[in-house]
Amino acid sequence: MKKILVTGALGQIGTELTLEFNRRYGAENVIVSDVNNDVHGMVPDNAFERLDVTDVHALERVVKRHEVDTIVHLAAILSARGEQNPDLAWKINIDGLLNVIRVAMAQRLDRLMVPSSIAVFGPTSVLYNAPQETILKPNTMYGVTKVVGEMLADYYWKKNGLDMRGIRYPGIISYKTMPGGGTTDYAVEIFYEALKSGSYVCPLSPESCLPMMYMPDCVRATVELLEAPTDALKYHGGYNLGAMSFTPEELAAEIRRYIPSFTIDYKPDFRREIAKYWPASVDDSAARANWGWAPKWGLEEMTRDMLVNVAEKLGLDFNI
Ligand code: NAD
Ligand code: SER
Repeated sequence: MKKILVTGALGQIGTELTLEFNRRYGAENVIVSDVNNDVHGMVPDNAFERLDVTDVHALERVVKRHEVDTIVHLAAILSARGEQNPDLAWKINIDGLLNVIRVAMAQRLDRLMVPSSIAVFGPTSVLYNAPQETILKPNTMYGVTKVVGEMLADYYWKKNGLDMRGIRYPGIISYKTMPGGGTTDYAVEIFYEALKSGSYVCPLSPESCLPMMYMPDCVRATVELLEAPTDALKYHGGYNLGAMSFTPEELAAEIRRYIPSFTIDYKPDFRREIAKYWPASVDDSAARANWGWAPKWGLEEMTRDMLVNVAEKLGLDFNI
């Protein structure tokens, strides 16, 4: 890996992953791109390209101009937005991915990182400790696009030796960039509301238990998989990755340890139906065995760190 292009780099994961890439590989070797050009100083040290991944020619021009050999493809429409606009989800998540694959093969790139999601699971999946290998029949368009993405990764690896890698990310929790329209966004929004108003109205139900991960673990996992030797990897589409699992009730109880008056109410909407068929936990033994995955952040440490950092971001005087 000499030159990395990050697509969708101004999103929740891209902004933080880019900073870690800069530390490891040098900002001059990390090109950031997004369809949105509202950079706001988020990644000030990097070359920026305004790039829509559905435009294959523009993508190819950027790859050639910067002599890119690795693409970390983060441009996507997430689950909740995808249910509101399934055609758009297909266009960006599948047409965009196929463009990335085509350019990667034409330009003989070294490797691609393409995230998958816990959304690959569905009503027929096991709810607890969902296996790495199982029947994947999601009931959201986002989930469908992620299953297709995993299948394309397997197909092009076997057929053309294209080295694609992926993680089935759980819900990612962070404070630097707001999440972009997923079902798990509540687990970020709740911290802002707890600090600003002392109450939160949750779009999921109290018992919606989902796998989650704090951003430092997400960034570290992504780098570890990207750097793993190819022959260590048994899967190319998406590794299950566990860190923590909780319900909104459990998260609210943890927040109450620091803000005792905090209240949570429930007004479930269509996102409850999405969450209902995602697993509560996943079996990540393949990631542990193949590339040494081990999470570092749990619910307690994450909650404390989120409260401190969100309070600072909001300019609130909050001591714990
Ligand atoms: P995000 O929504 O925060 O960011 C996506 C970025 O893609 C945005 O900056 C957006 O402007 C950009 N984008 C949208 N359409 C584009 C296009 N046509 N061309 C170029 N850029 C475009 O998403 P994220 O949370 O950073 O997710 C990154 C990847 O990780 C996605 O594949 C997502 O499915 C996956 N993932 C995320 C989570 C999570 O909780 N954040 C969980 C599971 C999987
Ligand atoms: N956090 C993501 C979402 O809710 C999971 O892929 O869409």
